[in-house]
Amino acid sequence: MTAHSSSFHAIEWRGQSLHLLDQRVLPHTHTVHEYTTANDVADAIRDMVVRGAPAIGITAAYGYALDALNGRDLGEAYKVLAESRPTAVNLFWALERMASLGTEDPHALVAEAKKIHEEDIAANLAMGQFGASLIKEGSRIYTHCNTGALATGGHGTALGIIRSAYADGKITQVYAGETRPWLQGARLTAWELMQDNIPVKLVCDGAAAQLFRANGADWVIVGADRITANGDVANKIGTYSLAVLAKHHGMKVMVAAPTTTFDLTLDSGNAIPIEQRPMSEVTSLNGQPIAPEGCEAINPSFDVTPAELIDAIVTEKGFVENPTVENIAVMVNS
Ligand code: MRU
Repeated sequence: MTAHSSSFHAIEWRGQSLHLLDQRVLPHTHTVHEYTTANDVADAIRDMVVRGAPAIGITAAYGYALDALNGRDLGEAYKVLAESRPTAVNLFWALERMASLGTEDPHALVAEAKKIHEEDIAANLAMGQFGASLIKEGSRIYTHCNTGALATGGHGTALGIIRSAYADGKITQVYAGETRPWLQGARLTAWELMQDNIPVKLVCDGAAAQLFRANGADWVIVGADRITANGDVANKIGTYSLAVLAKHHGMKVMVAAPTTTFDLTLDSGNAIPIEQRPMSEVTSLNGQPIAPEGCEAINPSFDVTPAELIDAIVTEKGFVENPTVENIAVMVNS
């Protein structure tokens, strides 16, 4: 594998079909699967072939267009895609945008999906600049999960800000939390950063507290799967504990997400549906059991970080510091 982040495609439309880079087997195996039905695309989203909130939304839009191309029932396509994963609001946003075109014309729907894809890349580049403006020279950044080119249309949200701030000469070290149980930090974020020659050290999730206690990092920068009207943030499980730790150690917390990740219909994070994934993801690793047979586990895929623990939320439209209902509404609706 020699690719730079800009030279691999997590999601690619080629001719009449969708191609997804299989993120379950990265970084050591590079496999691309081809999809021609919404049903198979929904399975790919559920099974984590593609993951990350913006990437899930883009993929669902292409999945919907695929069923239009093949003359299938678009109501069914919408339903099966909407049932794939519950937390990332980008999925529902993208499906609504496709359905609200009110057409079954495959060309119009493929064009709309491509537009959603392109707009996400542009949003990430803008977010990168806004987020980088908040970072001082010599900063050390801790990030969680994967929020890079693999999780988005390209460049990334939190990882996009890290890329932009590194290009500006502001970052001396990135720490990637490994992110149990799927290890998005170890397998995907470390890989993306290494392709771009950005200095990264991998951290066991449980080692973050010791790193912060030793004054090893300045910012926690993460993405989001859904942000509610009051600034509460659902993101990968483990984000909430990092935010609590960061506050305890006088560090700052930045959340980066396009405005397509906001759900202003929900007052607070208490209303966000949290995906519960199979116990086997916790009790085994790469198909090998790591817990006693029959041991039960909990596996919430996301947690909610309350707005009061967040210093800044960055979008393609700008950023808010100390998020409130008021400043979020102004930014998102601007
Ligand atoms: O379960 P995943 O890998 O889809 O979870 C992804 C995350 O939680 C990301 O941090 C979030 O979607 C933002 S991606 C730009």
